Amino acid sequence: MTTTRIAGLREKLQQIGVDAFLVTNAVNRRYISAFTGSSGVLLVSQKDSWLLTDFRYMTQAPEQAVDFAVVQHAPKWIDTVKELAVSAGIKRLAFEQDTVVFSEYTAWKSTLGDAVELVPVSGVIEELRLYKDESELAIMRDACKLADDTFQHMLTFIKPGLREREVALEMEMFMRSRGATSSSFDTIVASGERSALPHGVASERVIGSNEFVKLDFGAYYNGYCSDLTRTVVVGKPTDRHRQIYEIVLEAQLAALAGIKPGMTGKEADALARDIITKHGFGDKFGHGTGHGLGMEIHEAPRLSIGGTTVLEPGMTVTVEPGIYLPGFGGVRIEDDIVITATGNSLLTSSPKTLFILE
Ligand code: GLY
Ligand code: MN
Repeated sequence: MTTTRIAGLREKLQQIGVDAFLVTNAVNRRYISAFTGSSGVLLVSQKDSWLLTDFRYMTQAPEQAVDFAVVQHAPKWIDTVKELAVSAGIKRLAFEQDTVVFSEYTAWKSTLGDAVELVPVSGVIEELRLYKDESELAIMRDACKLADDTFQHMLTFIKPGLREREVALEMEMFMRSRGATSSSFDTIVASGERSALPHGVASERVIGSNEFVKLDFGAYYNGYCSDLTRTVVVGKPTDRHRQIYEIVLEAQLAALAGIKPGMTGKEADALARDIITKHGFGDKFGHGTGHGLGMEIHEAPRLSIGGTTVLEPGMTVTVEPGIYLPGFGGVRIEDDIVITATGNSLLTSSPKTLFILE
């Protein structure tokens, strides 16, 4: 698995015109090497692939990073990078400029001096991560199934009188007890007027009657995230509840029906946005229709007004239009999909009829 990823990175080295790549971003490190420890850097040239880590990981690292020579680094790992680079004739070294802070960069530069030139790059491994392979999709399907199962469970759990935090705790316990490492972000349980908050993380609010409860949550499982939103009504829905729900559902289904390879993120976004706008709620849908999803909860590509990336098979994204009416409430419906050769395929499968919980 990691041999293909290392090969992908080596092609990038050639394109960028550097001798080696220094991976310091922890997510990218795991992607390229399979090492899950909390500390370590990768140094990859056309010939060599090293994982530098510390004493704590000298048993774990060789077991996980089977395509890497594992080196226990000096107290300052950059000293070991310099030693390896000089001995291997590495002169130009790419580094991930979006992960490093200025003081670290200054220290690296002073250690490497004139021996090794640091070349700043952005998004190189993230570009490889855009295209999920079958092993990644299998994990993501499991992560999505965990989210689907959690929603099913919550349909029997949610009732008036519970605090949002109690609902979130139950969701997180359910996911953790079935294999999730954690939730993939702070669980959103937003009820009543709070459901108009697009990111209303669970609060002390007590769920009342005749109101929306919006659940947005996901499982972080085996290194990958799922992300699911469903909105239910507790008690009796009014016509307004039904109207907003139906518009969001229409928009979400239209996007799911239309998203296909060759389309830009902006075009995908418009599939949902145009419907919400047509019904007069365009200004109540103030976020993008979706985002890339994988090892991180938010990654490329974006399905938004500014989304320039062209969608291609293997990309995994969310589809999550919403309408938010301050003082009343809001609805979002979100699924995860993978772009296929001809369209897209759902990774999540929770039902989307309006659930009315008594
Ligand atoms: N579901 C959380 C988010 O997309 O930001
Ligand atoms: Mn999302």
